[in-house]
Amino acid sequence: MAKPSHATWGGRFTAGPAELMLQFSESVSFDRRLAPFDIMGSKAHSAMLAHVGLITAKERDAIHAGLDAILVEIEAGRFTWETKLEDVHMNIEQALTKRVPAAAKLHTARSRNDQIATDMRLFFKHACATLAAKIRAAEQALLALAAANRDVLIPGYTHLQRAQPVFLSHHLFAWLEMLDRDRARFGDVAAHANWCPLGSGAIAGTTLPIDREFTAKALGFVDARGRPQVTQNSMDTVADRDLFIEFAGACALFGVHLSRIAEDLILWSSTEFKFVELPDTFCTGSSLMPQKKNPDSCELLRGKSARLQGNLHTLLTLAKGLPLTYNRDLQEDKPPVFDSFDQSALCADVLAGTLAGLTVVRERCAAAVRDPALLATDLADYLVLKGVAFRDAHHAVGAVVRLAEKNNVEINQLSIEDVRTVHVAFGQDWIEVFDLQRALAKREGTGMPGPKQVARQFARWKKLLA
Ligand code: ARG
Repeated sequence: MAKPSHATWGGRFTAGPAELMLQFSESVSFDRRLAPFDIMGSKAHSAMLAHVGLITAKERDAIHAGLDAILVEIEAGRFTWETKLEDVHMNIEQALTKRVPAAAKLHTARSRNDQIATDMRLFFKHACATLAAKIRAAEQALLALAAANRDVLIPGYTHLQRAQPVFLSHHLFAWLEMLDRDRARFGDVAAHANWCPLGSGAIAGTTLPIDREFTAKALGFVDARGRPQVTQNSMDTVADRDLFIEFAGACALFGVHLSRIAEDLILWSSTEFKFVELPDTFCTGSSLMPQKKNPDSCELLRGKSARLQGNLHTLLTLAKGLPLTYNRDLQEDKPPVFDSFDQSALCADVLAGTLAGLTVVRERCAAAVRDPALLATDLADYLVLKGVAFRDAHHAVGAVVRLAEKNNVEINQLSIEDVRTVHVAFGQDWIEVFDLQRALAKREGTGMPGPKQVARQFARWKKLLA
């Protein structure tokens, strides 16, 4: 079983790892997806080594050609990944060494600790850009849905009880605000990722005369003016997992938003509401009940959000008790990050698809929003304009609602005489309050659901998402 170690780190070992230990400690099964970033990092690192004279230009070119060939093989699925080589870094380095003798110099002034930190920062920049683009596409689907149903009114809800009338687009724009914050958050995470770890070594840098800024520039770790950004403390650099947590945090919060949107859609698509009809292409049926059309895409969006929160929790717990600096525990940081990325990407696409195929059931929206009780607050405002204090007005309208309930009629079916028994400030014009269009038109402050404001928001989102 145990044979002398041939591992890259095997010099001081008399026996290699047990088979079970290899299985237990390998990460190549999941970290091989970092290969493009690992190769990018190795190319920049060897370019820097040549720049400072630690390797020759010829050696650099041989390393670059070898790495390029390996990347082609990996992308074509022709590369043989070996579990016994532990991780993506050693698999690529060993394969390179077999082809290019100069590869024995590639790991000069580098450790897997600053190497993995670099790979992951490159990954985060890519992942954040990918998610931001996908969220944007979902936002565009949302805007198109709002535009196609511009004139539709629905009740807005608090406590899941009918509250006040709003344009459907005002509700959809609330979702847009949530999604747009998510998109911005991924931008922030990408900005935090934009610092180059290479040169931190295992923990304490290197005695060799390297040029960290050169590597940072080559990898695009630069500020808006093109100046290189390198991390400022070698120990923090190899120990820090904040970005993992921030990224998973951004995914988890995106998940919370997806879940709330999904919940609205699940309610709206139920027979009880039926404000919307979800696309058949994103629903499934029941194996038993032939009439069923279940809102599975929305339920899964809601369900996946639990998973995204779990990943965040895993990372927080993983990092919390670790002494500085690197500990092998940290290898467990990648599966939750990759899962959060993959699931968030899928969720964004599924949300876009669901929204794109959704139809609004206008009659049902109109029937629901016709409920005159939605304008009870407007009736209190009416009394305020007649000089009644708001608290008294609120009380009086409450009594009007009670009276309507007692008489078994809608509040706007009460007579002027009825309402005047409640408060003398009610005049003949009280009934005009129940004109929905008029009620909406009065809500014209910024952020309110009046038609002028909604038009403004249409223009704003059109510009933001163009
Ligand atoms: N596979 C390792 C990880 O993902 C790379 C860093 C290994 N460093 C070490 N000192 N063993 O964390």
